[in-house]
Amino acid sequence: MNILSVVGARPEFVQAARLSKAIRTRHREVLVHTGQHYDYEMSEVFFQQLGLPRPDYNLGVGSGAHGWQTGEMMARMEKVIDEVRPDWTIVRGDTNSTLAGALAAAKLHIPVAHVEAGLRSFNRAMPEEINRIATDHISDLLFCPTQAAMDNLQREGLLDKALLVGDVMYEAILYSLALAQEQSDILARLSLKPRGYLLATVHRAENTDEPLRLAGILQALAAADEPVVFPVHPRTGAALKQHGLGLGGRVLGIPPVGYFDMLILEQNARLVLTDSGGVQKEAYCLGTPCITLREETEWVETVEAGWNTLVGVDPQAICGAVKEFQPPQARPLLYGDGHTSERIVQALEGYAP
Ligand code: UD1
Ligand code: UDP
Repeated sequence: MNILSVVGARPEFVQAARLSKAIRTRHREVLVHTGQHYDYEMSEVFFQQLGLPRPDYNLGVGSGAHGWQTGEMMARMEKVIDEVRPDWTIVRGDTNSTLAGALAAAKLHIPVAHVEAGLRSFNRAMPEEINRIATDHISDLLFCPTQAAMDNLQREGLLDKALLVGDVMYEAILYSLALAQEQSDILARLSLKPRGYLLATVHRAENTDEPLRLAGILQALAAADEPVVFPVHPRTGAALKQHGLGLGGRVLGIPPVGYFDMLILEQNARLVLTDSGGVQKEAYCLGTPCITLREETEWVETVEAGWNTLVGVDPQAICGAVKEFQPPQARPLLYGDGHTSERIVQALEGYAP
């Protein structure tokens, strides 16, 4: 088969890595990078560390308003699809690249497979929620990481297109952790001791575009007794400048880190504080308790297991959780058996519309 794979933003490179390997054992993959993320530390470093092949096409779309960015991606993608005429288009996650890839392919009658399908935050103010819902409804095959995702799709009448396959980001961790431990010197570089620091990431639009919410998070981070490592997403860096906000206390703001450094930082932190979807899930998989700086999450099973707590952005609530949050002993496997990519390739091979 001829499979067109779409990536564009940081989490999609991680989501694509193992599946790309599995596809290429017996099929042709054409990799398209929309160019949504383009800084070295937001894109190239992931290709290097995850062994992702160089994209066959880079659409070079870059940053912009939602409508412009999504439309521009679709227009450029159409040309590629016309040239490649793939048997399948694969999109993953919930970014504008995901939606643009799915829409462009569906309109040209190319079957679409959505990896990490069925997730819902039930908050339609999130651009990602719109991307997820729209992508799931126009896709032909929906690969779900969890039973909760399957249940969401059942409620929307999409169960006949859905398959529970496990999580591709968990698979990436299983493959990469030993390499990260070998190659990352981030703890030494930042003079950090295992379990002697907190790790924070913030980039959700609802937090960065609202100066009061961002200020609340920063106030809580600055009040921590331990060092707080804070790799700053470019969106957040821009928001800090725009709103004249600074980092206080023991907060160490650094540029975004590569995937290997991030895995090591997540694994060794005493706590992770984040509004990222992928980081909540990785913290769970690596056995680090997570404080989520949002009011809801798509990764509900991490909360049900007692390893993730939804705290929002109130400084007192965050500080309380930093002091008191304790997960239970048990940490069941929630994200499959690490053979997700092989299962996806088999499903594509066996698909009969
Ligand atoms: C996007 C996704 C979000 C995902 C996140 C992962 C959408 C709607 N959002 O959000 O779901 O969680 O990626 O990180 O698709 N910028 C740079 N350099 C880059 C990339 C971005 O400086 O390489 C800056 C630009 O100022 C840009 C801003 O970051 O305007 C936001 O980038 P964008 O890709 O639009 O959205 P993210 O917030 O990154
Ligand atoms: N990540 C990284 N360096 C960072 C922050 C995140 O390598 O400085 C990785 C993280 O480990 C995960 C992915 O990027 O694999 C998650 O992306 P992000 O938080 O940007 O987006 P989300 O998951 O919220 O869509």
